[in-house]
Amino acid sequence: MKTDKTFTLKNDQTGEEFTLPVLDGVEGPSVIDVRKLYAETGHFTFDPSYTSTASCKSRLTFIDGDKGILRHRGYTIEELTDNSTFLEVAYLLLEGDLPNKDQMKEFDHNITYHTLVHEQLHTFFRGFRRDAHPMAIMCGVVGGLAAFYHDSLDIWDPKQREISAHRLIAKIPTIAAMTMKYAMGQPFVYPRNDLTYAENFLHMCFALPAEPYKVSKTLSDAMDKILILHADHEQNASTSTVRLAGSSQANPFACISSGITSLWGPAHGGANQAVLAMLREIGSVDRIPEYIEKAKDKDDPFRLMGFGHRVYKNMDPRAGVLKASCDAVLDELGVTDPLLAVARELEKIALQDEYFVQRKLFPNVDFYSGIILKAMGFPEEMFTVLFAVGRTVGWVSQWKEMMEEQSLRIGRPRQLYTGPAKRDYVDIDKR
Ligand code: CMC
Repeated sequence: MKTDKTFTLKNDQTGEEFTLPVLDGVEGPSVIDVRKLYAETGHFTFDPSYTSTASCKSRLTFIDGDKGILRHRGYTIEELTDNSTFLEVAYLLLEGDLPNKDQMKEFDHNITYHTLVHEQLHTFFRGFRRDAHPMAIMCGVVGGLAAFYHDSLDIWDPKQREISAHRLIAKIPTIAAMTMKYAMGQPFVYPRNDLTYAENFLHMCFALPAEPYKVSKTLSDAMDKILILHADHEQNASTSTVRLAGSSQANPFACISSGITSLWGPAHGGANQAVLAMLREIGSVDRIPEYIEKAKDKDDPFRLMGFGHRVYKNMDPRAGVLKASCDAVLDELGVTDPLLAVARELEKIALQDEYFVQRKLFPNVDFYSGIILKAMGFPEEMFTVLFAVGRTVGWVSQWKEMMEEQSLRIGRPRQLYTGPAKRDYVDIDKR
């Protein structure tokens, strides 16, 4: 929102001053509007990993990293995980408000009746090695959806955008479950319309044609909560990737596929898989001090996975919710995981250590999610895929919000060139 406030920038070489407008959001820090900076001063700003740059306006998600607050469309994440369902949160993110009963019924119907994938898509899978990482398959198959759903690719038609959004939210669990089945050498399981979103996902992952599968309420409740916790997180790396891809007017399936590739990295969604690998490597509580020292050593690339966050300088509220449900899930499933003891002790020691305290490094959402997902029976390589299933709603909602803006301009960052200045070409014989 425009304000009367301004910011004055002075060029110390020439003495010239430039006045820049300041914009206010509803909450959070004000921003200095630098859109005309280059035209007026001949200078760009330099902010390579966007630590001080707001790349867009958004009405979806608010984070106060110092206070550990996460809200979607005004509702706290704790309120949503306590009272809502994943599909209701999906509607909230997409449409802006919680649905009434009729709206919820219609949305539920629209998602449920889009869960099947084109039968031809099954053959895609057979081109991949069985030991491929499921995220590699996800990138390819989700991007490939554009080859099947030509009738919803006109990004300028709001109805087609809506159908694409519903297709993506509906089909992503089906594709995710297929990647798991493919790796296990088991037949694909078709979706069931009588189940909830979370129940259907578990059914497609764990059912076998040879015997009936009953979805456990404990597991489906936990899965629903995990999906809500991952649904959106404002302008993180994968969401920014989706927006940047979408700014070139790429189709939505291609945009979401680009989000999946970005999420895969261990600094982002890949951390949940990396946490378990780390806990296993540490192995026992007595080895924790050794790993804490490794994490602090600047000559050692090792980092405590599941710790730290670009925005949260306090407990990640999602980690708080997951920590609380971790005990409940393990108790109800009767699982005793020795890695949980390592995780708890690691958290305790790190939270008291001067290095972590000074840098405000707290456990993030990935710290406990892997332990719950492992207890639920998911292979570790599926963890990041599950993150992608939840986050698809956020990616699609952010893409929709961007497409609904008055003017869509291609995203095009600039650079500080540090390569050679102009030089003359030398013939290969003389080099
Ligand atoms: N272990 C040890 N030291 C760390 C860690 C860590 N996990 N995270 C940050 N630091 C240190 C870092 O070395 C730096 O120290 P110094 O100031 O002495 O150079 C300081 O803390 C600031 O770190 P940074 O790298 O500038 O922070 P960033 O905002 O660029 O990175 C992060 C954020 C999440 C990539 C990073 O904390 C990290 O690599 N964490 C481990 C991976 C992880 O758990 N990722 C999941 C993030 S939450 C899920 C999601 O949203 O994707």
